[in-house]
Amino acid sequence: MKDVNKAKQRIEELRETINYHNYRYYVLDSPEISDAEYDELMRELRQLEAEHPELVTSDSPTQRIGAPPVEAFGVVEHPQPLLSLTNAFSYEELAAWHKRVSNLLGGRQFDLVCEPKIDGLAVALTYVDGLLVTGATRGDGYRGEDITQNLRTIRSIPLSVPREAPPRFEVRGEVYFPKAGFKKLNEKRAKEGLPLFANPRNAAAGSVRQLDSSITAKRPLDIFIYALGWAERKTVPDTHWEIMQYLKSLSFKINPNIALCRSLDETEKYYQNWVESRENFPYEADGMVVKVNPIALQQELGTVAHEPRWAVAYKFPAIQGTTRLIDIGINVGRTGSLNPYAILEPVRVGGVVISSAALHNEEDIHRKDIRIGDWVVVQRAGEVIPEIVEPVVSRRTGKEKIFSMPSRCPVCGSEVIKPQGEAMHRCTNTACPSQALEKIKHFVSRGAMDIDGVGEKLCQALFEAGLVKDAADLYSLTKEQLLSLERMADKIVSNVLNSIKGSKKRPLARVIFALGILHVGEQYAELLAETFNSIDDLAKASKEELSDLPSIGPKIAESIVTFFRQEGNRQIIEKLEKDKVKLKRKKVKKAKHKELPLAGLEFVLTGKLESFSRSEAEAKIKALGGKAGSDVTRKTSYVVVGADPGFKLAKAEKLGIKTLSESEFLDFLDQATGKS
Ligand code: IVH
Repeated sequence: MKDVNKAKQRIEELRETINYHNYRYYVLDSPEISDAEYDELMRELRQLEAEHPELVTSDSPTQRIGAPPVEAFGVVEHPQPLLSLTNAFSYEELAAWHKRVSNLLGGRQFDLVCEPKIDGLAVALTYVDGLLVTGATRGDGYRGEDITQNLRTIRSIPLSVPREAPPRFEVRGEVYFPKAGFKKLNEKRAKEGLPLFANPRNAAAGSVRQLDSSITAKRPLDIFIYALGWAERKTVPDTHWEIMQYLKSLSFKINPNIALCRSLDETEKYYQNWVESRENFPYEADGMVVKVNPIALQQELGTVAHEPRWAVAYKFPAIQGTTRLIDIGINVGRTGSLNPYAILEPVRVGGVVISSAALHNEEDIHRKDIRIGDWVVVQRAGEVIPEIVEPVVSRRTGKEKIFSMPSRCPVCGSEVIKPQGEAMHRCTNTACPSQALEKIKHFVSRGAMDIDGVGEKLCQALFEAGLVKDAADLYSLTKEQLLSLERMADKIVSNVLNSIKGSKKRPLARVIFALGILHVGEQYAELLAETFNSIDDLAKASKEELSDLPSIGPKIAESIVTFFRQEGNRQIIEKLEKDKVKLKRKKVKKAKHKELPLAGLEFVLTGKLESFSRSEAEAKIKALGGKAGSDVTRKTSYVVVGADPGFKLAKAEKLGIKTLSESEFLDFLDQATGKS
């Protein structure tokens, strides 16, 4: 009983501390502790909760991730509808709105609040007795989808609020995908052969509408709260501006770029300032929302046709230009996809010269009726690759040509197919040079075999010299062959050969990912490596067996089976095997626990390790029969000290527990496994 009380007290302490640091990090952007220290707090909390499952509560910071997939989203009725906004596209339109409002208010003076209009997804968050109970999309304004589980994974959404909050209330805000994260996500998707998101808004919407909230949890989503929907039994401030400050005091994330303006002129100045600098902001904003500040006046003004009279979206001018579409080019990607792109007469749009634009696929080109030779409107939005909005039909001469995808691959001449249900055309030749080179580049990249010193340029040189035709050829490269390339000196060559050799021991999941199977990204590769103990077993798996795995659908299963059916791929695997690249998972399970080399030893990790993540290190210790402890006690055998260690190091020193640096720890593991 005493133990439970102690655990309960510590759990509460940890939650409070973690919530505070979450708030510093995610809401204020001003952390006070290192990531490693934060991780330690989370680990301790997780451990205590695992030991005392009865003490887990829905608002615990551990409950943000990994909820079981929901079948479909439930429906949430909004007690008060979520409205949309009327637009103003020029100062004249804004001034006309202001005049109408002033007239309706009989000439009474009022302040305005001006805030960025974030391009994301509107959500309503309901809190009851201090806890987040529902998170819903806007839907049709009256009924939205219940996406509570997914929204819980967004760190800047508080799961609980301070006691002084109303007993029941709803806040509204915009969930968005920060530009930097969006760029990274698309780069990753391109690498994995997945379709790209057209813009951050689509990425945000796609991420919060995932049936599996663990996918949402991996996306760097964020939120700005912009309104109090309703509140029960509590007097709340009577102006929008003060409500925002009040919500901030309840730990909600409020846009720091909101301004209280005394007049229309001030509003216009603030808006103009933004027109100039909006590209510098870390999120997409398509205008400013201008709101009447006093809530009493808002209520007086009311709503017409789903739009409040008291607010207006003052849109930014689109960054567009007009130019000629000279031709449509085609890139062949690693997965064989034929990616069309627009070759444009260079044009300056918003300070940047654009000479090419994304054209996603043939259907898209035809849907927009874009023809070669057309004058086209091009548009740039933040980090997004420029795109063609529409053709200028009135400028057509009749000489424009309708585009069609080639039936032969522009790189190798092989047949092109369009698999059923897919938007992309693909080259059918897995040995297509374009695919082959892209595949080699992928094989050596970080996250895959991570071969240091072999970058994109060296891959290209090796490929062009005919020394490497596929990834497996890397392992039979000789010193002489490498020296025959331009600018290759002895020292570089031996480094390259060493890192190629070093990569032979990469874990199975990395190898599976490195093979570049269509649709198989890092996470699927992990799952496959856990399920199948070797590449051989995976290659033998049937489509049905694969589809039975959690989260692997028929499309991925089909792609895996097709990959291993192809002769070229089989040959690559045979070569890898001959060159002793590890294609199996270590079978540690079979050894008896007591016989394992680290049996009886307990390790505690502190600080950041270079060679592996904390969970990898712990998995390694456990696989070798050791224990990975979370706290330094007299029972601890060794404390492994990484960079930026936490208080555990001090504790180890106080208790006289042996410490190991990272390299000592690696030596220790090597000795344990008989490697040295
Ligand atoms: S106020 C009636 N403030 O814009 C009040 N909306 O076109 C409407 N939006 O669905 C909401 N940033 O998702 C407001 N600072 C902001 C906003 C904002 C983005 C979105 C919101 C709404 C849409 C209306």
